[in-house]
Amino acid sequence: MSYTYLILGDGNFSFSLSLLKILSSNFKLVATSLEAQSNVLKRKQAGDNLSKLIQFENAHVLHEVDCTKLSNYEVLKEISPTYDRVIFNFPHIGGKSKIQCNRILLKDFFVSLVESQLLSDAGEVHLTLCHGQGGTPGEDSQRGYENSWKAVEMAAEGGFVLDRIEPFNTTDYPEYTQTGYRGHSDKGFSVERSLCHVFRKPRPNVPSLHPTCYAHDISFWSNSGIDGDRFRNLVHKVIGACLKQTVNEFCVKNIELIEEYRLPNAAIDSNSEESEGNSKIEKLGVHMTEQSEASIGSGIETGTRLEGVTCSEASGGCVATKVSYCFRIWYQCRWASLSRTLAGHLQQLVRTEVSRQQDWELR
Ligand SMILES: C[S@@+](CC[C@H](N)C(=O)[O-])C[C@H]1O[C@@H](n2cnc3c(N)ncnc32)[C@H](O)[C@@H]1O
Repeated sequence: MSYTYLILGDGNFSFSLSLLKILSSNFKLVATSLEAQSNVLKRKQAGDNLSKLIQFENAHVLHEVDCTKLSNYEVLKEISPTYDRVIFNFPHIGGKSKIQCNRILLKDFFVSLVESQLLSDAGEVHLTLCHGQGGTPGEDSQRGYENSWKAVEMAAEGGFVLDRIEPFNTTDYPEYTQTGYRGHSDKGFSVERSLCHVFRKPRPNVPSLHPTCYAHDISFWSNSGIDGDRFRNLVHKVIGACLKQTVNEFCVKNIELIEEYRLPNAAIDSNSEESEGNSKIEKLGVHMTEQSEASIGSGIETGTRLEGVTCSEASGGCVATKVSYCFRIWYQCRWASLSRTLAGHLQQLVRTEVSRQQDWELR
């Protein structure tokens, strides 16, 4: 079987050279750098590696290839219409403390890859990151998700899912010497405990690893009490209709009622503004916790759990007519890829539908 490889962001071409030496004869490999050749050649060993590389009949070398603009390089398609392996080791935009920018680099890379259609249907993206950067539960790092590059979330923006995670063993690539620490052209860095994240396109019914999960809270008043099923049915209807056109998997993992608050009769004035209503609530000694209704959290973050307050606690057992609900919807796909963008869009659809209900009022 013939395999095609695309290496992105190689530093001194030692990785590509090493890989070439491992591969059997039936392959095609394109090794690329972001930098111009003149800059690459300033790196130790780079000239030597490049001259060895071009002796391989099936190897191609390209410079100034930006992984966030892959559709721009027709030559990639000319060499091979699609690639079975796209490999990017230790991407970094350079500089210190630029987590957000490095996340964007990953996201733009995945989006560009899907737009370019360069990955074959059964192809894989091998993204190797330093210890702790990936942010998956497969990491033995104390760094925490918020301090990571959120690799799975960034890949989901391009429609990719995580297939597996493998340790990156430099001993497998004897010629490889890492270079380009934080943009310094010739400085190495530690690759200890680094991990190769293998992404692929989604396949129906084939579960992915550590799928993205988002929690959305939505709060609204109801003039009369509702049972949770009415809200759940509404969510299922709205989301189901949308998903037929997007990811082909129902992605509502769970819906939970996290607060139900009954406003006592005494506190209701049908003409009053909501703020006035709230001040009356305060007068009654009921504590309302601040919460962003539109907050989007990953599955790793958990939102503030509100204290449920019952009518009897608030006012000694009066008759409640106006009820406030806060539901938390958990979105997750098991095999399709679910991006934060799509999850946010789904939440917006639910909000719109809730606001259309005659007897409900968004908080
Ligand atoms: C830390 S160095 C690693 C270099 C090399 N892959 C290695 O393992 O030694 C980070 C690399 O990311 C590359 N890079 C950053 N942004 C890129 C982009 N938009 N397209 C392609 N490569 C990029 C840089 O050119 C640099 O070579």
